[in-house]
Amino acid sequence: MLITLKQASDRLLKGEVVALPTETVYGLAALLHQPLAIAEIFRLKGRPQDNPLIIHLASAEDMAPYLRENPPPGTWQLAAAFWPGPLTLILPIKEELVPAIARAHQPTAGFRVPDHADILSVLRLTGAAVAPSANLSGKPSPTCAEHVLRDFEGKVPVVDGGPCQKGVESTILLFKDYAWEVARLGALSPEAFQPILGYVPQLLQTDLLCPGRRYKHYAPQAKLLLGLSEYAQDAEVVIGFSDRTYPGAKKVLSLGNSDDPSNVLRSLYQTLRQLDQDEIQSAWIDFNIPSEGPWLTLRERLKRAAQ
Ligand code: TXA
Ligand code: MG
Repeated sequence: MLITLKQASDRLLKGEVVALPTETVYGLAALLHQPLAIAEIFRLKGRPQDNPLIIHLASAEDMAPYLRENPPPGTWQLAAAFWPGPLTLILPIKEELVPAIARAHQPTAGFRVPDHADILSVLRLTGAAVAPSANLSGKPSPTCAEHVLRDFEGKVPVVDGGPCQKGVESTILLFKDYAWEVARLGALSPEAFQPILGYVPQLLQTDLLCPGRRYKHYAPQAKLLLGLSEYAQDAEVVIGFSDRTYPGAKKVLSLGNSDDPSNVLRSLYQTLRQLDQDEIQSAWIDFNIPSEGPWLTLRERLKRAAQ
């Protein structure tokens, strides 16, 4: 069922779960102070209980009350530079202010101010909400309202805010020892933080600090082969680029032009979902892509989807 912004905030305030658009992917939202509704999110998604949720706020100032004294250096500069936008910061919190279920009993919480008028107007009325991606756990994230309706068989009401502008999740940073590190690659590439931090944050090497990384993600039903050769052997479908040719391919699904990584990321989950819809058993993906900037995110998502 599609609902209006007013209906979405009314339902959230009553302790219900609704799906809302963000600039990255659609989120399955419940209010931070509605632990029963948060439990319902875990149930609906089939999400492991030890995988914490991101707290979504209407503005950066709203984060201040939750934080422990002396947040990591650069916290407020990062917030000022990138919010609203696709950045999540993992920060030490006053534990009594964030229900344990939302943060999976971690002493930290993830925060972000999303950049989409619809969710921002809801958050202004309701206050803080948690929102994981609005997909069944393990599946590709939803980049339009229809994906959410399909995953939850219409049982979760959705605000239709159009197709997501980024199409891939927020980049997650956490402060470890002396520096910020990237806990999840996402819509912002590590290089984007250089002007604010004075360095490019490195990829976090442990899964212990970011529980979500332990689980299967983004995977369609089909078996995915990441291909470096030019020939897509035996696959029913090739996922590739519109400016390349794939000799012998039976069917090609295009991610867009190979010189436009933002557009490629925007269409990635839609394309992976298309495989399921067409009941494809195996697909060959053109993995001949660079290892820097936004391409790093594409490489990571494809590797996980193929696991
Ligand atoms: O773009 C996004 O971030 C989307 C939209 C809806 O905002 N949300 C999203 O949420 O991707 P989700 O639940 O699919 O992914 C949240 C990730 C997980 O990998 C989780 O482990 C990590 O954030 N996370 C959340 N809180 C954390 C914490 N306190 N410590 C470490 N990792 C945390
Ligand atoms: Mg997710």
